Amino acid sequence: MRDQVTPTEEIDFAHNKRLLNRYRFVEYELLRILAGWLPATARMEHKLAMGRLLWEDAQHVQHLYQRLREIQTPAFRDPDDPALMRLMAELIHAPDERDLLAGLLRVIKPALVQAYAWHIDQTFANPDAPTLYAFKHILLDEAEHVHLTEELLGDHPAGEWEAYVRGLLSAAGGITGREERGVAPEPPLCRTNFVVSREAVRDERFNLVNHNAGKAHRPSNPETERLQEFESYSQEMLAAETVALILYLSPGMPWEFVYNSARHCYDETRHCRLGIEWLARHGLDYTQVPQNTRIYAWRSQYDPATQYCLLTMGNEQHAFPYRRQRLTAYKAAGDRLSAQFISYDMADERQHVAYGRKWLPQLMEQHGIKMPVEQFVDETVARWEAEYRSGALPLHAEYA
Ligand SMILES: [Fe+2]
Ligand SMILES: [Fe+2]
Repeated sequence: MRDQVTPTEEIDFAHNKRLLNRYRFVEYELLRILAGWLPATARMEHKLAMGRLLWEDAQHVQHLYQRLREIQTPAFRDPDDPALMRLMAELIHAPDERDLLAGLLRVIKPALVQAYAWHIDQTFANPDAPTLYAFKHILLDEAEHVHLTEELLGDHPAGEWEAYVRGLLSAAGGITGREERGVAPEPPLCRTNFVVSREAVRDERFNLVNHNAGKAHRPSNPETERLQEFESYSQEMLAAETVALILYLSPGMPWEFVYNSARHCYDETRHCRLGIEWLARHGLDYTQVPQNTRIYAWRSQYDPATQYCLLTMGNEQHAFPYRRQRLTAYKAAGDRLSAQFISYDMADERQHVAYGRKWLPQLMEQHGIKMPVEQFVDETVARWEAEYRSGALPLHAEYA
């Protein structure tokens, strides 16, 4: 018999599970924090980036989930480490959006990159190949996220908030938990207890309006109608903010709902970008388009299931006849850019309506709504007709 061989790989099967639970937890909390902050974030460039970040972080959770469910049941487990849980619970209480992004992009994400790279080297490569496959792809995104830092934060100074986050990460032994643990720091005075925003915040470049809010389409000349359509796309951040709020307020929903909602939220930020891009290609500045933030405030007064129903069964379900008509008109006019943009939008919106049908029953249950689903949809769509389509967007005192 030959001598035993001592492997050089540091990570064994049980350790691997513990590590994967840590990474999955961190990625999942990142996406929840981004969703929570989306409405409260003012700068449009930050909001657009956050839509992408939260979707890509959801993809990372999905990769890790697919691997975890092969090696443990249940697949989702909190890490057995209060210091790591404390770190991820504290990040959301950043004093402002720049400090928030600095904590996520300058501290947590570089640490994730480091952890994944170390893990790739230290796990049993062939036996654990599915994990390596996941890391290889996650790392492509994470490296890009780290690179976004400069574009989004420029020379934003690393203040006491960022130092606090670093201290908490160190107290958790880093992402892997294997580094020497520092003493957990006291929260700095700038820490601001997070409260989810029922207002859709915009930066100082925008005017806010609520006139013509939600009003059904009125025909005008084709040029104006087309312009209005893409101006309205440039305001679809409002839909992203509603989905983000629903996601944030529904922590008890299954992972697949969160995954679908992260995509839904990202799509709406892309639709917003689509409007911005269309305007730019026509020499127009999207910041000159007033943002109808009253729509978000109006939806936000309701429980998350009602908000979801207003959006998916009201707006999204009812948009198709008009969109189809517009698509035909753009094709007939040879307007390829507008036709292309609308085609992709419609593909996304079909998915959003399907998400609505799929998840409404469970979301109603989560939020204590007991009536039959069909009745709930009928009543909510009637409310949408009366309050949104009329343009009234009333804020009811009883929900305040
Ligand atoms: Fe949309
Ligand atoms: Fe949508």
